[in-house]
Amino acid sequence: MKSIKDINFKGRKVLLRVDFNVPVDENKNITDDTRMRESMPTIKKLLADGASIIIMAHFGRPKKGGFEPEFTLEPVAKHLKELAGCTVKFTQALLGSGEPEKMAADLKEGEILLLENIRFYPGETKGDVALAEQLSKLGDCYINDAFGAAHREHSSTAVIAKFFPNDKYFGFLMENEVRNLEKLMHDAPRPFTAIIGGSKVSSKIGILENLIDKVDNMIIIGGMRYTFTKAMGGKIGNSICEDDKMDLALELMRRMDEKGVKYYLPVDSVIGDKFGNDANTQIVPSGEVPDGWESMDCGPESCKAIRDIIMASKTILWNGPAGVFELSTFAKGTNEIALSVADACKKGCFAAVGGGDSVAAVKQMGLADQMSYVSTGGGAMLEYLEGKVLPGIKAIQD
Ligand code: 3PG
Repeated sequence: MKSIKDINFKGRKVLLRVDFNVPVDENKNITDDTRMRESMPTIKKLLADGASIIIMAHFGRPKKGGFEPEFTLEPVAKHLKELAGCTVKFTQALLGSGEPEKMAADLKEGEILLLENIRFYPGETKGDVALAEQLSKLGDCYINDAFGAAHREHSSTAVIAKFFPNDKYFGFLMENEVRNLEKLMHDAPRPFTAIIGGSKVSSKIGILENLIDKVDNMIIIGGMRYTFTKAMGGKIGNSICEDDKMDLALELMRRMDEKGVKYYLPVDSVIGDKFGNDANTQIVPSGEVPDGWESMDCGPESCKAIRDIIMASKTILWNGPAGVFELSTFAKGTNEIALSVADACKKGCFAAVGGGDSVAAVKQMGLADQMSYVSTGGGAMLEYLEGKVLPGIKAIQD
């Protein structure tokens, strides 16, 4: 793996791709700066070496081509200044106007230039080679620290690397993500338990299929479990279900049996008569949800059984919540899983958490720093776990 650790970047103009696609509120205040803070070790190392840094980042999914105020990186530029504690230059002018080009050329050692949202260039998401070349001319080497965007074959995440065949590297964030994911997929201490949740089986097919060959236990939680329950003949009331995926659910269970993977579906459910914190609730067996009621969390018996599996595991991968955890009435199952995983970590278990909702849950519980590893990638982590080659990683390794 090419790391920046042993390289001195003094006097160099480093093109750094990061994922600063952070959530903001209606006033454009950043509500979670984890991705920015996680790239700070790379940025600080380069500044300490005496490099100047030209940062490329995207924000949201602008579609018009050209500047759109809604998607400007200006709030990110302000926050970056606070985090980096150095001169951070920023311009809303785009390449071709001459302004960012001049700012990059004039950049001094220990200074940062943040380019405006790289997705304002229509070529970026198409992986346009001319744009990649234009960007490459701003610096003299390339570092990719944008794990969250590593599944995108875009000009700044992958294509640009070909202009630096001998001078392209992973940043520390990227290196850490790749190391942890490789451990999970190829060197996981056993027993290895995957806890997979979320609302739809269809969005998790790839990961379930790939993990069947890797794990000892598969715990299936969240809305997707009712497709399995219904496929087995259970009554699920108004619970979320993908009827067209019931055959697939049966096939996945058959394959898990064949491979000796022990799968666990929650035996009891917290059901509500409406989608809201003020719903009336009951606890019922998972396959006996009455009409007019919707299952929205794991019940207490399931939480206990899941805890036992977690505590007996040496490796855990958790992707997807147990229920509608954003409603406090239905957050208990997800919270108890987070607590159990944290307890397992204290006993030496290696636990990786990924995917927007499960990461949000461990943060909400204040448990993120008790996990062995919390991924900064949503889609990128999912695609890696599906066994796909991520273009952002491949471009550096080639
Ligand atoms: C993310 O937020 O998952 C990454 O920044 C990638 O964003 P994208 O899905 O818009 O490519």
